[in-house]
Amino acid sequence: MLGLEDRIALVTGAARGVGETIARRLAEAGARVVVADRLEEEGRKVALGLGPNASFVPLDVTVETDWARAIADTLERHGRIDVLVNNAAILHMGSLENTPPDVFRRVLEVNTVGPYLGTRAVLAAMRSQGKGSIVHIASIDGLLGMNGVTAYATSKFGLRGFAKSCALELGRSGIRVNSVCPAGGNPQMYGPWLPKMASMTETLRHYGENRGIPGTVSFDAIAGAVLYLASDLSEHVTGIDLPVDGGATAGKYLDGFSSL
Ligand SMILES: NC(=O)c1ccc[n+]([C@@H]2O[C@H](COP(=O)([O-])OP(=O)(O)OC[C@H]3O[C@@H](n4cnc5c(N)ncnc54)[C@H](O)[C@@H]3O)[C@@H](O)[C@H]2O)c1
Repeated sequence: MLGLEDRIALVTGAARGVGETIARRLAEAGARVVVADRLEEEGRKVALGLGPNASFVPLDVTVETDWARAIADTLERHGRIDVLVNNAAILHMGSLENTPPDVFRRVLEVNTVGPYLGTRAVLAAMRSQGKGSIVHIASIDGLLGMNGVTAYATSKFGLRGFAKSCALELGRSGIRVNSVCPAGGNPQMYGPWLPKMASMTETLRHYGENRGIPGTVSFDAIAGAVLYLASDLSEHVTGIDLPVDGGATAGKYLDGFSSL
């Protein structure tokens, strides 16, 4: 038992992908889940599929008034908010020359400013409850730099710094703040760049295989880490980065060296 029964959780970017799985796993654990996304049709469908303990709220994470409405709606419906999962994000793949300033700014706006706005939006409620768990979905690209994703990596490094500072600032109010750092795996996010990467089979194999546990990280594995951080099982855990990456960021894996 995770102790998440009747906890109130809002998950951003939950209309599809990782966020949808996090919302489903929270609902299965007994939480009442608010599915938040700017994709209204898909988001409503996800909430409907999760049953009576789930609802949908339209939310663009970059818009402060959207946050105010989403949290007011959640508090009106449930009276409290226990868990905020800042999962919504966008990716941009491109060299520096192919990352113009408006794109760089937009990636930071969604991936870093969005969670900042969300954290501020839940602050008063969580402080008055004396309890809350905020989980940011960062990335291994927020732990190690990578060529071709400068804007995205910057946004996720920034998010981790924000999380750690918040953890220190909010701990005395009973609010924990942590980051989950998954390895890549959902092609919906990087789908637009797949045609360009089609010939890079060796690079992609190397990316997925050169780690302790090779292969694609499942959405459920990411959701499992979120559930742990959302629940009281992690009651004294705050300010951490939890990689869900098969050991990709643990160090170097060299082919053949394990059998020397
Ligand atoms: N895809 C991967 O391989 C991968 C790897 C590591 C980390 N992550 C992280 O996992 C999280 C989920 O990624 P995913 O793979 O499910 O991506 P995805 O693109 O499939 O889903 C992202 C969701 O966020 C929503 N979203 C985007 N901008 C929004 C905005 N401004 N306001 C509200 N919602 C918005 C989208 O509508 C979508 O539903 C992200 O934080 C991402 O950075 C993904």
